[in-house]
Amino acid sequence: MQGKRVLLIIAGGIAAYKSLDLIRRLRAEGAAVRCILTSGGAQFVTPLAVSALSEDKVYGELFSLTDEAELGHIQLSRDADLLVVAPATADLLAKMVAGLADDLASTALLATDKRVLVAPAMNVRMWEHVATQQNMATLAARGIAVVGPERGDMACGEFGEGRMAEPVDIVAAVATLLGAGRALAGRHALVTSGPTHEPIDPVRYIANRSSGRQGHAVATALAALGARTTLVTGPTALVDPVGVETVKVETAADMLAACEAALPADVAVCAAAVADWRVDKQAAQKLKKTAGAPLALALTENPDILRRLSEATNRRPQLVVGFAAETENLAANGKAKLDSKGCDWIVANDVSAARGTFGGSHNQVHLITAEGMESWPEMAKEEVARKLAQRIADELGAGEQTGSAA
Ligand code: CTP
Repeated sequence: MQGKRVLLIIAGGIAAYKSLDLIRRLRAEGAAVRCILTSGGAQFVTPLAVSALSEDKVYGELFSLTDEAELGHIQLSRDADLLVVAPATADLLAKMVAGLADDLASTALLATDKRVLVAPAMNVRMWEHVATQQNMATLAARGIAVVGPERGDMACGEFGEGRMAEPVDIVAAVATLLGAGRALAGRHALVTSGPTHEPIDPVRYIANRSSGRQGHAVATALAALGARTTLVTGPTALVDPVGVETVKVETAADMLAACEAALPADVAVCAAAVADWRVDKQAAQKLKKTAGAPLALALTENPDILRRLSEATNRRPQLVVGFAAETENLAANGKAKLDSKGCDWIVANDVSAARGTFGGSHNQVHLITAEGMESWPEMAKEEVARKLAQRIADELGAGEQTGSAA
């Protein structure tokens, strides 16, 4: 997002403290950030902090003579490539729906012809209230992009949905909306992510510790390069990436069906940690203990989604990429997986305990292709995703050139 201009509107909610981090992260990505701080927002963060981080004047008052003389509200939204409202309070969202313009933030939002991204943040009952839900539906129908909110503990002491999306997710959404690059425009990308849950009975299931963070980041990065992206994900605690069609599934069988329904695709990236087995017969009722007797579960092997997508049919994506978690002999094990699955590339993670990859924010990967292995330095998982997306774009672009030359 180098050289792009973001107009960030900080409204009055406790999540405003995260907006300071958001400014820092957007600027680290190369964006210029200009801020409007509502009077409510200024109760939570100071104009001085916002100004210091954005290295710009902070705008607050609609009818401030200096502001109008230097830069009117129309000019503020005209100068931006994207408007971001974070936190977006229930009140400001309602004003957007009604078209009210009684302060600088709502006036800039009414005056803009640029894309708008909102990151709602409010108490769970305010979020679930029919008024807010209807407002969100109206805004979505008008093409307003939404990131979050998340489920979790809230500052008010309650638990539920309504927590503002993390700055890293808002930055990813901004990158997608700004269309940082269009190298994959016109392409369809299919990505699997997260764990799968295989039910034992109505209340229990077999699962694994996958967070889905790497897979979701890959979907975000592909969408940021302009690909129409379908993300088929097992249960995770992550927010749906903006600009990505997210299909939520539980089991490996559901994941395979959703992937097949999403075809054709130009590229498929299988980052999900699919359960290798499912329980043969799911109990219709909750299983009961029977006085010290051990319980044996018969397991059946699940379909291998990566292998299915790699099969040489006329629906095979041009490029199929798998992931592999290995602790030793990365090159040999990765190459063996490449051959056994029939995919084109394997992204092998070194998950030795010393690396701290599981649950960590960083990852060190090796890209294994028929030509050999390329080791990438340790990077944030989002950075790995962006580098992989760029390599995919290069590969599909090269294929196109070969095709047109032939
Ligand atoms: N995979 C899949 N469907 C499965 C199992 C795995 O699509 N039923 C995909 C994963 O998404 C990943 C790749 O296969 O891209 C490798 O997964 P991994 O768990 O490392 O390998 P396995 O095939 O399960 O082999 P093993 O556990 O024996 O190493």
